[in-house]
Amino acid sequence: MRRFLTIVCVAAFQGCAPASGATQSALEPMGPASAELFRLIWFFTALSAVIWLAVIGVMITALVRRDRARADPLALDASRERRATGWVTVATGATAIVLIGLTLLSYFSNRTLAGIGADAALTIRITGHQWWWEIRYENEQPSRVLTTANEIHIPSGEPVRLVLASTDVIHSFWVPSLAGKLDLIPGHENVLELRADKPGVYRGQCAEFCGFQHAHMGIVIIAEPRAEFDAWLEHQLQPAPQPASGEEQAGHDLFMNRPCVMCHKIGGTTAGGIVGPNLTHVSSRTTLAAGTLPMDESSLAAWITDPQSIKPGAHMPVVDLGGDELRSIVAYLDRLK
Ligand code: CUA
Repeated sequence: MRRFLTIVCVAAFQGCAPASGATQSALEPMGPASAELFRLIWFFTALSAVIWLAVIGVMITALVRRDRARADPLALDASRERRATGWVTVATGATAIVLIGLTLLSYFSNRTLAGIGADAALTIRITGHQWWWEIRYENEQPSRVLTTANEIHIPSGEPVRLVLASTDVIHSFWVPSLAGKLDLIPGHENVLELRADKPGVYRGQCAEFCGFQHAHMGIVIIAEPRAEFDAWLEHQLQPAPQPASGEEQAGHDLFMNRPCVMCHKIGGTTAGGIVGPNLTHVSSRTTLAAGTLPMDESSLAAWITDPQSIKPGAHMPVVDLGGDELRSIVAYLDRLK
């Protein structure tokens, strides 16, 4: 029985277990924001449990000690009435104190959360799309602004500021190991500040129903030591690698002459679409289609061939390609590390 209860509790709080060894659990806080919420939720849960037990105890006592039938049930006993009024007054007072106390605790937690990114050096703009995440690393120098998708690298041990917005419907950003959830709202910016105490891979999920493929809107935060993060950022800022073989060159030429360029940008080429994810270094990411497929050549081929069978309703159209053409485009995209 105890084991069953443990499983139920863990399942209720943890949600779906991530497939890739990434952490995704509000019960395993890995940063100050999630740790604060972790403390708060356990305090609320424990206090609520105590109050619930007290209420049930009083109810059972009342049932066990109920009065024998009296001759005149409507006759009032003055001393009993006084005692009852006393108890009700105490209970009302205790309820007010508990409510005020919990409100104050929430308030102080909110203050702690708001202070986490006070000296954040890194601002990342996250824009929700049906059904993927656009990630933009802000910088005063336009040449150092980086746009990528679905995977956020951050330096571990440093606070970062995430500015959240949306282009279509309301989404919600939730990486439970690192922070609470916050909505991405069209025409409005929300700010979420977090820090990953340790390097690691933290998975998240869109947490607001946003249409057909809401469930396939995963996100990953990869926290790494500062030097690794800097190296990653420098690499991502480079234009896309040049094709290295005849097949990759053929794939490049096809990409540039097909509708692909209408939606996708590949830095250093003529492809400049901004409707879909930026593909400059697409193969350096660990997943494809917002956490739906692992990133490899077979996933790329499957996705390009028939996106609707993998993510029905996704806005990626089918581009009519022959077998050789598909192989070339996959070879070229796989080159974009
Ligand atoms: Cu985006 Cu649910």
